[in-house]
Amino acid sequence: MIAQRPDLRSLLRPVVRKVRRQDPYAGLDPGRKELVDVALGRLGSRSFADLGGVWGVDGGYTFYALERYRPERAVLVDATVTPWVGERARRFRRLELVEGNFGSPDVAARVGTVDAIFLFDTLLHQVAPDWDAVLELYAPRARAIVVYNPQWTGGETVRLLDLGPEEYFRNVPHDPHDPTPLGPDGRPLYARLFERLDEIHPVHGKPWRDVHSIWQWGITEADLVGAMSRLGYSLELERSYGRFKALERFERRGFVFVR
Ligand SMILES: C[S@@+](CC[C@H](N)C(=O)[O-])C[C@H]1O[C@@H](n2cnc3c(N)ncnc32)[C@H](O)[C@@H]1O
Repeated sequence: MIAQRPDLRSLLRPVVRKVRRQDPYAGLDPGRKELVDVALGRLGSRSFADLGGVWGVDGGYTFYALERYRPERAVLVDATVTPWVGERARRFRRLELVEGNFGSPDVAARVGTVDAIFLFDTLLHQVAPDWDAVLELYAPRARAIVVYNPQWTGGETVRLLDLGPEEYFRNVPHDPHDPTPLGPDGRPLYARLFERLDEIHPVHGKPWRDVHSIWQWGITEADLVGAMSRLGYSLELERSYGRFKALERFERRGFVFVR
């Protein structure tokens, strides 16, 4: 009988566990952590709002910023706040949790004025209001706007659904072997998407074409920088973090804009 060799992942598991025990933030993306370090460290921001900071990371960048920099005020906003995040948030007196759509003026008013806004992996999801309207909504409220976003390298800014099903699925992180992954709202993301674009989504109460759980925009760097410049911001720092998975027309980029 041939003895089975343990795979690399199970060999590494105890090491990964040990590192995480020593540094609970070791599993976070180094690029986004670097952007937090610039905003709270180098720029000295004393308050921030992390817009859409929950899914997949359980508020990780918010908690990292809170523990490392001890700001005076922090706000974590998401349409869906998990019980774990709610529980952990209680340990931070200066953290406010807001469950709601950060594109709504009411939620923006609850965020109020902060030194820095984080938009990590959220800008390309914004429609109704669109990504540039969201920037406009928060511009009067923050000195620094920090964006980490898969940026579109495919020419003009595009609403991805307008590409049609074939091109849409070629350009978004969608595994054809797993057609029904669940989104942050617990609903299948892509099953029958193009058939139900005009149906009302049961969680968000608006047509599927306008929900933020799916990929919505390919935003070019020129359009993002141009929109921020019109709002009075200049680019303090820009980073490229390489291709977004195997997607040919998306590159992970980080931006720190200041006024
Ligand atoms: C792709 S995840 C990114 C999570 C985290 N910021 C990160 O960098 O890994 C997008 C998150 O933003 C939230 N989200 C997106 N648009 C939103 C909106 N308009 N209002 C509230 N939450 C939103 C989703 O619920 C989800 O938690």
